[in-house]
Amino acid sequence: MSASAGFLQNLKIQHPIIQAPLAGGGDTPELVAAVSNAGGLGFIGAAYLSPEQIAQTARYVESKTTRPFGINLFAPDATASLSISPDIAIGRVAPYFSELGLPAPSLPAAPSFTFSDQLAAALETGASVFSFTFGLLPSDAVQALKQKCIFVMGTATTVNEAVELEKAGIDAVVAQGSEAGGHRGTFRGDFSAAMIGTISLVPQVVDAVRIPVIASGGIMDGRGIAAALALGASAVQLGTAFLTCNESGIPDAYREAIFNAKEDQTRITRAFSGRPARGIVNRFMTEVESGDGGKAILPFPFQNALTRPLRTAAAKNGRAEFLSLWAGQGVRLARRQPAAELVARLVEETDEAIRRLQENQSHKSVPTKSGAATK
Ligand SMILES: Cc1cc2nc3c(=O)[nH]c(=O)nc-3n(C[C@H](O)[C@H](O)[C@H](O)COP(=O)(O)O)c2cc1C
Repeated sequence: MSASAGFLQNLKIQHPIIQAPLAGGGDTPELVAAVSNAGGLGFIGAAYLSPEQIAQTARYVESKTTRPFGINLFAPDATASLSISPDIAIGRVAPYFSELGLPAPSLPAAPSFTFSDQLAAALETGASVFSFTFGLLPSDAVQALKQKCIFVMGTATTVNEAVELEKAGIDAVVAQGSEAGGHRGTFRGDFSAAMIGTISLVPQVVDAVRIPVIASGGIMDGRGIAAALALGASAVQLGTAFLTCNESGIPDAYREAIFNAKEDQTRITRAFSGRPARGIVNRFMTEVESGDGGKAILPFPFQNALTRPLRTAAAKNGRAEFLSLWAGQGVRLARRQPAAELVARLVEETDEAIRRLQENQSHKSVPTKSGAATK
């Protein structure tokens, strides 16, 4: 059995296509259910949701599909603390707040819920898959998930991180290449050393672990999926490709920015959230990072909380220059359509790409009249 077939059987899904969790509003319950109904795996990106919102979202998804779906959270970070004064960061973003007519920024209170509260809510849903990024899970969390027979996937950006996840008893690893949109999952060492392209990362992770590997980053169509499967991936996880589907919850200005973006117009930034993430370059990113910008950015999740009112107002007002336009380097390949159509197209394109490859191969080995194989 191929790596992919075993994985599909285990997860009870039809196609090796996972809709990436898209925390922040991209992955509406409609999108999640549509992907699962189409035979892929829809994911609820629940990192910013309260336990009540997690329960509500999952109930909605379950009312729209009886197929498997997943829930994703950010691994808890015990070291997250605000060791520097927030004044410089607050001063840096204040002019943008006033430009949008918002009250002066201040540091919001920490959320009233913890990772454990979110996980407890996730465990009570009908999700059959749980994934996480930004680190490892506490061992009691892994145990609680396993007790419920939930399939657990962690995110790695290097071979060593993948090996750590396997050692921690995780069932599969999402290998996130540097092309990927959104936050970097790096949890060991500096993120910049872990900027490894998907085509380099996936086969090296496949060689180093025995658990299934899911390729993620820059995969937008069937050609990318066929390539990932050829590298030994059991499945693929696509974020940007699903962001422009009709069911996605992103503001119109964000969608248009993706359609207008080129492959050299995304960059890694900490300006919006305090954690490195890939998005389309815009004014906020450029200006906040200029000069001594690094010093004016709080660590995650504080910067994220600080900039949230700005991003919310910008979404309402169609001001893309203040939105975190998370997107991967495959932006030129983004398409607008219902998610079910995208999944069906991806399946067809993958088959087509594999067929072409096989044709090329068999064509190559056909001897010519002179006896030499054609190239
Ligand atoms: C808008 C957006 C939000 C994301 N949110 C999450 C998240 O909540 N959890 C997670 O594990 N990955 C998240 N990711 C990263 C994806 O899992 C995945 O690695 C990435 O989208 C793959 O690259 P691509 O966008 O080129 O397909 C997000 C990506 C984007 C674009």
